[in-house]
Amino acid sequence: MPISTTVNGNKVTLDVDPETPLLWAIRDELKLTGTKFGCGAALCGACTVHLDGEAVRSCQIEVRDVEGRDIVTIEGAHDGIAQAVQAAWIKLDVVQCGYCQPGQIMSAIGLLTQIPKPTDDDIDKAMDGNVCRCATYQRIRAAIHEAAKSI
Ligand code: FES
Ligand code: FES
Repeated sequence: MPISTTVNGNKVTLDVDPETPLLWAIRDELKLTGTKFGCGAALCGACTVHLDGEAVRSCQIEVRDVEGRDIVTIEGAHDGIAQAVQAAWIKLDVVQCGYCQPGQIMSAIGLLTQIPKPTDDDIDKAMDGNVCRCATYQRIRAAIHEAAKSI
């Protein structure tokens, strides 16, 4: 049976196997390819989106579990906190290859939504599951502090 949900403010119907990982519905059905596949096993964070305002790994959530819920992907991250994060990322030139960055940014927005002025420890805990093969971790931490200044 098709699943109805909201993605980036738009009502959508997903007519896929209900056990399909949300990641693949987002990428293949909705063509929102900013959300990345890294591991498919909750180990890298590349697939991070927001589900009802919380940062989650979309590779681990089945489409049948998002009926009636609210999903935001990197393409729909436009609120004040998202803008502050994106501005800080640009200012501090965080990105290297870029592959992990949509997931990093969605986790950072999730953190700052919960804790507007995070400590280094808060950042380490919240960002722990987001792997960056280019090792941009120090710039990510600095950019989260930078974004927090304008929130
Ligand atoms: S692809 Fe989901 S955590 Fe790696
Ligand atoms: S910027 Fe290359 S993997 Fe993170």
